[in-house]
Amino acid sequence: MSRPLLVSLALSLSLTAWGPALAAQGFVVYSARKEELIRLAIDLFQQETAIKVTLLTGKAGELARRIEIEKEDPRGDLFLGTTAGVTELLRRKGLLVSYSSPSARELPEEFKAPDGTWVGITGRVRVIIYNRNLVKDADAPRSFFDLTDPKWRGKLVVASMGERTTVGHLAAIMALKGEEFTARYIRGLKDNGLRVLNNNTEVRKAVALGEYAVGITNHYYYLIQLRENPASPIGIIYPDQGPGEMGAPVYSITAAIIKGGKNLGAAKKFVDFLLQPKGNRLLVEGEFEIPLFPGARLVGEERGILGLGQFKKAPVTQVQVADLESRVERLFGALLIP
Ligand SMILES: [Fe+2]
Repeated sequence: MSRPLLVSLALSLSLTAWGPALAAQGFVVYSARKEELIRLAIDLFQQETAIKVTLLTGKAGELARRIEIEKEDPRGDLFLGTTAGVTELLRRKGLLVSYSSPSARELPEEFKAPDGTWVGITGRVRVIIYNRNLVKDADAPRSFFDLTDPKWRGKLVVASMGERTTVGHLAAIMALKGEEFTARYIRGLKDNGLRVLNNNTEVRKAVALGEYAVGITNHYYYLIQLRENPASPIGIIYPDQGPGEMGAPVYSITAAIIKGGKNLGAAKKFVDFLLQPKGNRLLVEGEFEIPLFPGARLVGEERGILGLGQFKKAPVTQVQVADLESRVERLFGALLIP
């Protein structure tokens, strides 16, 4: 089986330069997920169906702009987003088509677009990670909202809004606690010396190296760090789990079929595959994400990873979070620059 063509996204690339060549490759996935995280699933799909997958990776927002620019003559067939936010924007611009996959029947409704234009395939949880040499397990912060306490001054790190989950996290807080509260919270973190890094990979490394004691990130970065260096002195906290507390936000990776794509049938088959146990398990294992299907096997349980239903989840839907993402970016983007 030949490896599929990998096309790195270069915004300077003109449409005419890459268009015809890619169209000849057939089924095209625009993925905001990094290639290595979905590679296993793509390889198996190609083996089983003999349908060739061409992958174009990039930031969710950049891919969404490309989809919009190409709307008269779409070059992509399927969009994989890292949260529902950008996917919802595409839906509202009429750039997606509905598809209700038979494989999505068991999926909780909140992980499906009400009109069937996108579907959640795996999930990630917003957590706190900490350096166990710098913070005793018993003293680790139990709440995102404790991080404005002076005892964490200068010890905190988070990724910029270049990471959609940073945007989604603040959108979840805004949905549940209001805009004023969220603005005050971010101001409090900044006043407490919050350091902003480019991305979540830098966050996990900085915490593992002890450059910062506490990081706000997604649960799978904890597992990725331990895979890279099993001796890393890091711990994980599912925050805000007490009575009356907000719970930890959960985001779904989303799959959406692009309107006017040339290979609708193949794109639908791929969505089915990503939702079937075999394909979905490869995504969960490849990405260290959590399954959205009840009863599906978790990865990282022995390291303290929790699945849906095992922790208190922030009571916001994917659509509620998506609704507020643009506002969060406008209001707070400038405060969270590396
Ligand atoms: Fe990530």
